[in-house]
Formats: sequence, C-alpha cells, structure tokens
Amino acid sequence: MAYFKTFKAADLSAGKMTRIEINKREILIAGIGGQFYATDDRCGHMNGSLSMGRLEGKVVECPLHRARYDITSGKCVQLPQMGNLENMFIAASGKTRMVAAIDTLDLRTYRTRVEDGFVMVEIPDCDG
Ligand code: FES
Repeated sequence: MAYFKTFKAADLSAGKMTRIEINKREILIAGIGGQFYATDDRCGHMNGSLSMGRLEGKVVECPLHRARYDITSGKCVQLPQMGNLENMFIAASGKTRMVAAIDTLDLRTYRTRVEDGFVMVEIPDCDG
C-alpha cells in the first residue's frame, strides 16, 4: 500500500477532472469542493474512459452510453442508456434486454491527500 505523487493541486481547477496512470492503472481524479476524488477511469459497463466524459457536480457521465457515477463513492447512479442500439439487439436476438446481460459495476475509489502542494493517490495493492 502506497501513496503516489501525481500533479500539483493548483493545476486542477474545481469542477474539472483528469486522467493519470499509475503502474498501468488508469485513474480519474476530480476536483470537487476543494477536495480531490480518485476512481478508476474505466467505466464499469464497457470500459469507456470516464475522464473523456462530462463532470456535473460530483457525478461523471460516461461518453459511450451515458452511465453515471458518483465520483465520491464510485456508485453507479444511472445505468447505461443503450437507446436504439438496445432495440436493434432485441430485434435481432429475441432477448428482452441487452444491458441485463452486461453488468455495470461500481467504480473502485482511491484515497487522496495533498502533500507539499501535490495530489497524492493511495493504491492499496501496490508497494510503489
Ligand atoms: S461504456 Fe460506459 S456506459 Fe457503456
């Protein structure tokens, strides 16, 4: 378990998010209300890059199918919106729902702290 130094806290404005990589792990960091929150960057549906999505308050929306997650808890607060893609799947397969077959997992969250002006992220299963 170790904290990793990332970027200067002053470089990420409130209400913005960025993506970093630590030991090949893709992590989204968002600045919300003077705090920094870190989660997996990859969507729990089909691996969309959440940092390429939209951040509204403490909720990030996946750019692929619009699943939404609470950044502070990692919980999915809106399931993917498959729209016409789901209807085409249902028509072609005879199944009743497409998203039921694809679980949408909550995101892993990571502790953060600011040390000497830098955002530090704790990676539990990594020694640094
Ligand atoms: S990949 Fe994110 S909602 Fe589908």
